[in-house]
Amino acid sequence: MRSSHTPNSSLAAALAEAEEEYRARNPNSLAQYEAACAAMPGGNTRASIFTSPFPLTIAKGDGAHIWDLDGHEYVDFLAEFTAGLFGHSHPAIRRALDEALDGGWNFGAHGVVEARFARAICDRFPSIELVRFTNSGTEANLMAVSLACAVTGRAKVLVFQGGYHGGVFYFRGAGSRVNAPFQFLLAAYNDSAAARALVAPHAQDLAAILVEPMLGGSGCIPGTQEFLADLRALADETGAILIFDEVMTSRLAPGGLQQVHGIRPDMTTLGKYVGGGMSFGAFGGKAALMQRFDPRRPDHLEHAGTFNNNVLTMNAGYVGLTEIYTPGRARDLNRFGNDLRERLNAIVRQRGLAMQFTGMGSMIGVHMTDRPIRNETDARQGNAALLDLFWFDLLARGIWFAKRGMMALSIALDAADADRLAAAVAEFADTRAPLFRS
Ligand SMILES: Cc1ncc(COP(=O)(O)O)c(C=O)c1O
Repeated sequence: MRSSHTPNSSLAAALAEAEEEYRARNPNSLAQYEAACAAMPGGNTRASIFTSPFPLTIAKGDGAHIWDLDGHEYVDFLAEFTAGLFGHSHPAIRRALDEALDGGWNFGAHGVVEARFARAICDRFPSIELVRFTNSGTEANLMAVSLACAVTGRAKVLVFQGGYHGGVFYFRGAGSRVNAPFQFLLAAYNDSAAARALVAPHAQDLAAILVEPMLGGSGCIPGTQEFLADLRALADETGAILIFDEVMTSRLAPGGLQQVHGIRPDMTTLGKYVGGGMSFGAFGGKAALMQRFDPRRPDHLEHAGTFNNNVLTMNAGYVGLTEIYTPGRARDLNRFGNDLRERLNAIVRQRGLAMQFTGMGSMIGVHMTDRPIRNETDARQGNAALLDLFWFDLLARGIWFAKRGMMALSIALDAADADRLAAAVAEFADTRAPLFRS
C-alpha cells in the first residue's frame, strides 16, 4: 500500500509533528522496545506488527479495549489481524481453557475434544470433508500445497500478487527471499485472463492454485465472483487443486467466503479465530485427497506436529465455533461491519476526500485514494504519507488498528465503539482535508 509519492511539505511537516507527539506520549513503550532489541533482531519476532518509529507495547486487554504500557486506552479495531474475533478474555473461552487445564495437558496421545472440534469444522464448512490441525495458517498452507504437489506429481503453484499465506508465502510488493522453495507462478489478482495466459505453457505441471478469496493483508480487496469462479474452472481444466486460503476470510460468513460465492474449492486452509484465539491452523477438503494422510494406509503421507492437537486450542476452538461464533452471530458481526464501512465511506465521500474503506463484512481496508481498487497495484496508488498520518491521528484518539490500514472487528465491539471510530474518522477528515488537496 506504499506509494512512490513524496509527501508535500505541509503533509511531511504534519507527519513529523504527529510522530514527535507519538514519541513523547509513549516513553515506556520506547524503553521496552529498546530492551527487546538486545535479544531479538530489531526487537521483533513477527514482522507484521513492527511499526516505525517504534512499536507500542500492549500491556492488557478487556473486551474490545486494550491498554499500552504508558496507560493509554484504545478501542481495538485490529482484533489480532482477525484472530481476536472473540474480544479479549471472553468468559466462555476462558472457561474452555480452564477446563482444559484442569484435565492436564501434553499427553502425547489422541484426545477427546479434537474429534469433536474436527466434526464441527466439517459441519460448518461443507467443502471440508476431512480436516487436519496444525499450529498456524502458514503450516496449513505448507501442508495443503505439499499435498497438492504429492498427489498430482506436479511442481508449479499459481499464486497472486498481494497474496499473503504466511511467513514463507509472502507475495506482497517485491515478495520475499525466504519464501518456501515451491515453483510459483505469480499472477495479478482479479485478472483471470492474465492468470490463464501465465499458466498456459505450464498447464501440465500445475499442481495447485492458492488464493485468498479476498486479499486480506494487502488491503481487504475482494476477489470478484468471475475471477474466483474462473479459477475453479482453470483448476478443473488443468487438473490442479484449487486451494482457498480462508485463514482470514472464513469469518465473513457462516461457511466462509466460499459460501458467499457458491464456489467449492478442493482444499481450504483455516487459521486465526477458528482456534478460539490460541495458536491454530487447519487444512482440509475432499476426502479423496485428505485420506492420503490416513496412517493406516501403507502409502500414507506424513503429517505430524507435537502441538497439533494441544488441548488449549482444541477446547477453545470448539467452544468458539459452536457456542460463540454461531452462524447467526457471524451474520450479525458482518452486518455490523458492512454498516460501519458504509458509514465511514459516507464521511469521506461527503467531504470529497481521496480516501476509501474497502473490504467485506468484519474486515476493513483503509486506502488514501478514491480510484477503484481491484488489486495490489491499484492499492499502491494510495498516498502512503496520508495513511501514516491517519494512523497517528487515530491512535491519539484512542483507536487501535494496523498502520498499513487494516481493521478487523471483534464481537466485543458495540455501537458506542463504532461511534467513536466514526467520530475519529470525521475529525481526521475535517482537520486534515487541506492536506488531501495540496
Ligand atoms: C490469508 C492468510 N493466510 C495465512 C496466514 C498465516 O497464518 P499464521 O500467521 O497463523 O501462520 C495469514 C496470516 O496473517 C493470512 O492472513
